Amino acid sequence: MPANADFLRTLKLQNPIIQAPLAGGGDTPELVAAVSNAGGLGFIGAGYLSPDQIAQVANSVKAKTTRPFGINLFAPSDPVSPTIPPEVAIRRVAAYFSELGLPAPAFPAGPAFSFSDQLKAALETGASAFSFTFGVLPSEAMQALKQKGIFVLGTATTVNEAIELEKAGVDAVVVQGSEAGGHRGTFQGDFSSSMIGTISLVPQVVDAVRIPVIASGGIMDGRGIAAALALGASAVQLGTAFLTCKESGIPEAYREAILNAMEDQTRITRAFSGRPARGIVNRFMTEVESNDAGEAILPFPLQNALTRPLRTAAAKNGRAEFLSLWAGQGLRMARRQSAAELVARLVVETDAVIRQLQETRSHESLPSKSGAASN
Ligand SMILES: Cc1cc2nc3c(=O)[nH]c(=O)nc-3n(C[C@H](O)[C@H](O)[C@H](O)COP(=O)(O)O)c2cc1C
Repeated sequence: MPANADFLRTLKLQNPIIQAPLAGGGDTPELVAAVSNAGGLGFIGAGYLSPDQIAQVANSVKAKTTRPFGINLFAPSDPVSPTIPPEVAIRRVAAYFSELGLPAPAFPAGPAFSFSDQLKAALETGASAFSFTFGVLPSEAMQALKQKGIFVLGTATTVNEAIELEKAGVDAVVVQGSEAGGHRGTFQGDFSSSMIGTISLVPQVVDAVRIPVIASGGIMDGRGIAAALALGASAVQLGTAFLTCKESGIPEAYREAILNAMEDQTRITRAFSGRPARGIVNRFMTEVESNDAGEAILPFPLQNALTRPLRTAAAKNGRAEFLSLWAGQGLRMARRQSAAELVARLVVETDAVIRQLQETRSHESLPSKSGAASN
């Protein structure tokens, strides 16, 4: 499979396939280890994990693989204050809490740990790669990662974000196209104008930076990987494709929703977390964002904390209408399979697509037998 050989060598990978960090339960240690064992790079999405949980999950991954794996955190941001009275947001979701038999929602508390606590734990996990989203890392954090010899990847949704990340010293940039499932990594400018499709964004970033570019967003099979490599990407990062693998930790109702949804059934929403993210449209999303009712959403991470009990109960009860069904626009191509099967299939498909393109070209360039010009 063609790929940037330096990138593969540096990260000791057999193929240029990265399993996206899937914070919120998708990326179980079984999934991360299976991807790494298949020659790709499994990632632990640790954005919501406490330092103890980070250590536990990493130990569990290391018990299942001796191959490299990565760890991902959310870049730190300034503390947010609500832009609307919190009671408005609490009132908007209260009926759903009672529908699920939960106590009334309360004012959400922020996490009990800081980014630097999480980073300290991440540095001790033995991960070979560290990626982050939602911003740029403080320079001390970059230094600490570099001192440990960890390969650092930042997430960009525009060319300028990629340039800023390169200046900050990342080793590679993950380019997140607008098709991508989950939260937007945007940290400069406004979210809506940073909705740039993978096919437009990847080559523009490749032209603007010198570091390897990892393409992500809507890539589900060998055709997508071959296209990303043709655009100049050194590797690809897939999220939605891994969510329906048997090792993924998402509730069955979520898996079914992905397997049954069509490409026009996702959209960007702030309803669950306060930060724009792509997911399958459901009742909670539609009703909480209803224009008639006015703005009732707290900023991230407060809205996320507010809706967490609801999402946890919905997962237990198989109620997909209250789950954040994060998924990308390629979801029609999602399959139920093991992670090893998926990685093996992606490698074979990519090679086949590239071979087919080469054969078509060489066939077209053959002179016609009669020597007559064809039109
Ligand atoms: C359920 C889910 C959780 C995600 N969690 C993270 C995360 O914790 N950190 C991160 O950098 N990206 C996260 N992402 C975004 C992925 O890194 C990636 O941009 C996206 O999955 C690519 O698009 P695709 O889903 O179409 O493959 C998540 C995506 C999904 C679907």
